[in-house]
Amino acid sequence: MPETSEKKKVILSAIQPSGTITLGNYLGALRNWVNLQNDYNCIFAVADLHAITVRQDPKQFRQNIYNAYALLLACGIDPEKSPVFIQSHVHTHTELAWILNCFTQFGELSRMTQFKDKSRKYSNNINAGLFTYPTLMAADILLYRADMVPVGADQKQHLELARDIAERFNSIYGNVFKLPEPYISNIGARVMSLQEPTKKMSKSDENVNSWIAVLDKPETIMKKFKRAVTDSEAVVRIGEGKDGINNLIGIMSAVTGKTNDDITAEFEGKGYGDFKTAVAEAVIEELRPIQTKFNEYIANKDYLEEQYRKGAEFALKLSLRTLDKAMNKIGFIAK
Ligand code: TYM
Repeated sequence: MPETSEKKKVILSAIQPSGTITLGNYLGALRNWVNLQNDYNCIFAVADLHAITVRQDPKQFRQNIYNAYALLLACGIDPEKSPVFIQSHVHTHTELAWILNCFTQFGELSRMTQFKDKSRKYSNNINAGLFTYPTLMAADILLYRADMVPVGADQKQHLELARDIAERFNSIYGNVFKLPEPYISNIGARVMSLQEPTKKMSKSDENVNSWIAVLDKPETIMKKFKRAVTDSEAVVRIGEGKDGINNLIGIMSAVTGKTNDDITAEFEGKGYGDFKTAVAEAVIEELRPIQTKFNEYIANKDYLEEQYRKGAEFALKLSLRTLDKAMNKIGFIAK
């Protein structure tokens, strides 16, 4: 079990193991998680229950869960320091989610942008899970009394709802839940699609050229960046109507630490072709060590199993305290 310091704040975050993990996930979330490990008590999860709101092929799904777990470690999350668990291994999540459903309004869930987007996209399967997804996410967070939740900008609305639900519950029953703060980094918070740069980069996008997977081969990364949509100005600078280039500059800045101005100066007089190649090269170098480590972890199922078991044990113990308290306050009889 990792040592927990009472003084350190608690951080909780999770990622869905649906399909491939993208550069957006990495720059918007995973990379920040790694940096927070020393200053906070961090707990991370592979949110597999969330992923079944869309149909999953069982064999592929199982592999995706392993892959997501191995990738978190490959990115630099140390499970000895920051427990990493698989959501479905910790039963308190679905239990609290049901309770929170009863404290969440239909209207609130109807307003969620992700629900609206996904119900358009999967119009033949607008299931209740898709609708109540944010209450499960609220349970994930509130169970651990998390102070902060590091996420990309797309998850902000869900976090605000988690706070509203917590506040509502607390106003009836007293101080059961802690109100979580979103932690959204300035850099990489919204990585956009390479093909439609007004939309976020998303692993569920059917156009494979729109996203970079963390595990894409170098030649694939190069090819996808070369195909990225730009504009006709041919000047590497941030500007209105230059969504494609703005996104590429954002990615370059996030990966290299250079400012937008540095990047503009560096590519003055050069064409978009050179710039795209340079962005691709920077991303390839950033991802190379992660890919090497991923291959080591994924080949070592015993180690992964040992870690996810320990993670679940830790998470269950901690989360039961909150679940028991909430159930007791509501008036359920203790076992
Ligand atoms: P998910 O799995 O879609 O994404 C995982 C993390 O990656 C961030 N992200 C992005 N950041 C920047 N640019 C992008 N294009 C981009 N795409 C994704 C997301 O904001 C997220 O931080 N509901 C969550 C998973 C979840 C969760 C939780 C998160 C379940 N329970 C509890 C925090 C706390 C989701 O679908 O993330």
